[in-house]
Amino acid sequence: MQPTPGKPRVFSGIQPSGGLHLGNYLGAIRNWVRDQDRYDNIFCIVDLHAITLPQDPTALRENTLDLAAIYLASGIKQDQAMFIQSQVAAHAELAWIFQCFTPVGWLERMTQFRDRTARQGRERIGAGILTYPSLMAADIMLYDTRYVPVGEDQRQHIEYTRDLGQRINQRFGEILVIPEALIQKAGAEIKGLDDPEKKMSKSLAADAPGHAIFMLDAPDVIRKKLARAQTDAEPAVRFPAGAGVRNLLEIYRTIKDKDWPAVEQEFAGKPYSVLKSTVADAVIEALTPIQERYREIRSDDAALMLQLHRTADRLAPIANSTLRRVQHAVGLR
Ligand code: AMP
Ligand code: TRP
Repeated sequence: MQPTPGKPRVFSGIQPSGGLHLGNYLGAIRNWVRDQDRYDNIFCIVDLHAITLPQDPTALRENTLDLAAIYLASGIKQDQAMFIQSQVAAHAELAWIFQCFTPVGWLERMTQFRDRTARQGRERIGAGILTYPSLMAADIMLYDTRYVPVGEDQRQHIEYTRDLGQRINQRFGEILVIPEALIQKAGAEIKGLDDPEKKMSKSLAADAPGHAIFMLDAPDVIRKKLARAQTDAEPAVRFPAGAGVRNLLEIYRTIKDKDWPAVEQEFAGKPYSVLKSTVADAVIEALTPIQERYREIRSDDAALMLQLHRTADRLAPIANSTLRRVQHAVGLR
């Protein structure tokens, strides 16, 4: 399959499983906003992926709307396609077919599956965690996607998507477009404020309030969290800096679009208190307008839902046409 001419299609997904943090913003959303005019974008709120882990139903609905509102508030334009995964049935249908063409060994070798089973045991996690990559492959290949912007942690899932696509194409002819991962360098891995060895993540934030800055955190909360961020015993910023200081500088550098030499020059010899308050100013300046727009958008949930439904209706025929192609190739139609 050749992709359609015009702007290359980009598909990205985020799970509506709780507050988005600064890592999500700097590593993902901000890049999508910046690059949106260069691509034909599809932004997907992957609620079917979210239920691979236990979710409170009311919270899941709330988080889904929150995520949509945050996407828009962050600058994703209205004319870009943003939709809720479960509203286009073809995702679940193609995922089933993909599962049937995926060796169990491939899925069992996925880092995410191995981490979960190691932590919780095989009796305590749903089979959705195992087959998760097949649904993700369906998300991506339903729309003849060229590029998938993700963080480093998702590289393995994209590799699987490519392997699966190639396997199906070899067997049935060129019916799927093979996508490529777009992995950003700057901001690609923001670390936890409480532990700069660990990636900032939703699950770690649940146990440690000082771990992450959330996109909807109030300014005083942001200042407090940054003031407590882990550094080291040095009296002032020195290079090469320790992991905690480097993480703060990485946050600053990404928000301000500065390179390392500029940042080193700016902060060398400055006390940590100055570093922390300058980073706090930058984070607050970046997040405040987003929070204002977010509140406006969430004040009319009906309008937001209508927009999401309309986009799902517009995308369904594209997804269905790929689904039909695959169904026909394997003998289902
Ligand atoms: P998740 O929150 O794991 O669903 O991730 C949503 C998107 O944000 C993905 O593209 C991730 O790679 C990206 N992301 C998540 N955590 C971080 C982080 N700490 N630093 C940079 N990007 C991140
Ligand atoms: N697995 C991704 C994550 O946890 C979310 C996701 C689901 C996704 N489907 C996708 C990302 C398709 C990109 C493309 O971050």
